[in-house]
Amino acid sequence: MTIDRMPRDKGSEVHGIFQKIAGYYDRMNWVMTLGRHEKWCREVAARVAPPAGGQLLDLATGTGVIALAAARRYPTATVTGADFSEEMLRRARTKPGANRVRWQHADATDLPFEDESFDGITEGYLLRNVSDLDTVLREQHRVLKPGGRMVILETCPPSGITKPVMNWGVRTVVPLLGQMVARDRSSYSYLESSTLAFESPQQIARMLKELGFKDIGWRKKFFGTNVILWATKSR
Ligand SMILES: C[S@@+](CC[C@H](N)C(=O)[O-])C[C@H]1O[C@@H](n2cnc3c(N)ncnc32)[C@H](O)[C@@H]1O
Repeated sequence: MTIDRMPRDKGSEVHGIFQKIAGYYDRMNWVMTLGRHEKWCREVAARVAPPAGGQLLDLATGTGVIALAAARRYPTATVTGADFSEEMLRRARTKPGANRVRWQHADATDLPFEDESFDGITEGYLLRNVSDLDTVLREQHRVLKPGGRMVILETCPPSGITKPVMNWGVRTVVPLLGQMVARDRSSYSYLESSTLAFESPQQIARMLKELGFKDIGWRKKFFGTNVILWATKSR
């Protein structure tokens, strides 16, 4: 089966992809974003701004880039990095500063945390990988304290007059880089198709508002191909 087709069980298909690409994930990210990914992760960490001594969750932490940036920025906070890929977590645990983060195996569709456990939630590139967006956002709303902030880094489907050019660019460049850097064209064909098919920031903002978030905003990055969104859970 080709993984760029819509899988019947998207969760286990996505899990398989991340288990497979964990070893070259950071390198590919660097190449695809021309080194900007780490900077965006630092911005995500800066925007979540938990109170001193607060609890922070980095969901879909992967190799832990956002969780580690948050742990560095907020030395008094307790940072939990959660992901359902054991291989991605294994890589995260080997990085400098990893002992400052609690690494936890968790599925974003059924979080193993009590209601209102966290002062802030961050996540990078989770939402376009899940089939039930509503459940995943609901779970985050449940575990976030009232007044807590959520900051999301995501890819963004091209829009406006540059859309045809950007569509072509994403379709062509991403799988090609996957082939050249990782020798894995099929996993990165999945990335290309999930990016182009994903919701716009406006649609995500609408969903967040319906769930009870306020003060919603976003800023696009890198010719509109990536976006950082933020929102606060109403008190
Ligand atoms: C593209 S990586 C992003 C990693 C990291 N946040 C970053 O910005 O580099 C997406 C991560 O989401 C995780 N993921 C996808 N679906 C998930 C789910 N249902 N529950 C938990 N993690 C999930 C994958 O295992 C993978 O590590």
